[in-house]
Amino acid sequence: MFADSSGRCCFLIFNVLSLIILQEGLHTVEGVWPLPQSLISSPEQYRLNPQAFYFRYGRQSAAQPGCSVLDSAFKRYFSLVFPDFTSGYGDLGNSAGKPFNVEISVDQDDCEGYPNENSSERYNLTVSSGNASLNAETVWGALRGLETFSQLVYQDDFGSYFVNKTEVEDFPRFQFRAILLDTSRHYLPVRTILKTLDAMAYSKFNVFHWHIVDDPSFPYQSRTFPDLSSKGAFHPMTHIYTQSDVRRVISHGRLRGIRILPEFDSPGHTKSWGNGQPGLLTPCYSGSKPSGTFGPVNPALPSTYEFMAGLFKEVSSVFPDSYIHLGGDEVNFSCWKSNPDVRAFMLKMGFGADFTKLEAYYMENIVNITSSLNKTSIVWQDVFDYHEKIPKDTVLHIWKGLPAQYYKELSRITKAGMRVLLAAPWYINHISYGQDWRTYYTVQPLNFNGTEEQKKLVIGGEVCMWGEYVDATNLTPRLWPRASAAAERLWSDEKQTSNVNMAFPRLQDFRCKLLRRGIQAEPLFVGHCKHEYQGI
Ligand SMILES: *[C@@H]1O[C@H](CO)[C@@H](O)[C@H](O)[C@H]1NC(C)=O
Repeated sequence: MFADSSGRCCFLIFNVLSLIILQEGLHTVEGVWPLPQSLISSPEQYRLNPQAFYFRYGRQSAAQPGCSVLDSAFKRYFSLVFPDFTSGYGDLGNSAGKPFNVEISVDQDDCEGYPNENSSERYNLTVSSGNASLNAETVWGALRGLETFSQLVYQDDFGSYFVNKTEVEDFPRFQFRAILLDTSRHYLPVRTILKTLDAMAYSKFNVFHWHIVDDPSFPYQSRTFPDLSSKGAFHPMTHIYTQSDVRRVISHGRLRGIRILPEFDSPGHTKSWGNGQPGLLTPCYSGSKPSGTFGPVNPALPSTYEFMAGLFKEVSSVFPDSYIHLGGDEVNFSCWKSNPDVRAFMLKMGFGADFTKLEAYYMENIVNITSSLNKTSIVWQDVFDYHEKIPKDTVLHIWKGLPAQYYKELSRITKAGMRVLLAAPWYINHISYGQDWRTYYTVQPLNFNGTEEQKKLVIGGEVCMWGEYVDATNLTPRLWPRASAAAERLWSDEKQTSNVNMAFPRLQDFRCKLLRRGIQAEPLFVGHCKHEYQGI
């Protein structure tokens, strides 16, 4: 029967496809990405008039007018809620008409602080006739609630704004939801970083992992060691991040509830450091003579640790977050092996010919430096692989391999009682033809062998955008909306978001929202947005 006619076969396939599309159509497209833990909406619809719309502080709220985080969020979200309306929030006179108030109350006055690893992002949002109320423990939770509210508002064909009666109770599944940008392989202008922070807030990401320096360039302008950037950046004036640039990034992140986590990766990935800090890198030997090339940081010299103590003292005062990323990945031993002074140091220390012991010794010293500065260290998984005895509060960052490999690693590290952060499945600098967001969406971070206690040690996940082939020209479309797939995985309930086909129309809709907000997010597949990107 299968062979009776080709026309019949294709007609059948066509029918199956249209059935799938029909089934998707039956599910309502909820207008919020990432999906809240609980969202109940009704067909009761309220029209919003931008000239009679106000964000107000609840009478019982611990934060009141003057709260920098919320005052500035009200301005931003007014424009996001009413994208066609040209006056800014607060520029309006009192207009006639019944006002719609969004009343915000928080339990803590953390308006001038920074979000941290323990900050609650929980919020409840109730939209009903004539008003909405948003309650959160912290201002950071209130920010997440404002984002959700902004995504609930929609326009009809005539441009009028509406919101439906809705109840939302929401909190993140994982505390740590990060994006890594690499500003060493290509320099990213500050405005590109700020724009990324804007887009991160739309997907409720809360950590910007700033892989600020690496082999190719050292753009961080240090107060203590200015030569690092004047000799190690691609250009000493135009391709650097000054102290005021860094402060802008930190402040822009803070106002969006985003932590800024700097990474100063060593002892490998440090070629550019050597230009401005002679004596820091290991001279490689060819036979009995220095070859003129340099390898990783020289772990055998006391001057190395004095320099690192100075650098991290500065870094820990510039970046307010309590975490610092110390790298520790991909150390090539061949240069250390070639150097007679390093080999002599190995003998003196009783390391024999085991260079992993030397590397462990180095990392332990660096971790001790940051601990003495009251910072928690994050290191790439390599450090655990050769040194299981690093301080227990260090977070291991898993970046290697396919699921079978990273599940094994998750299992092994959490069994040792250490916290982990998963990046391996979200290396989105890798691109391919088709809908690879589906792969990022269907990751199951906790699907490894381990007890409930072990699973609690997974603090979250990270999307990595390494910079070999990425600069300001293509960063945004390569990041969005692909990173948003991971954002939902890290924020939302796993069971409610287990169907990738149901996610598809919602993500398409969210991508159109990103375009509307000026984020040049690439398309997922064939289709159109009501408001196409205007190319500006
Ligand atoms: C909002 O209300 C309108 C009008 O009743 C209805 O068509 C639409 O499905 C509702 N949306 C949601 C998400 O409930």
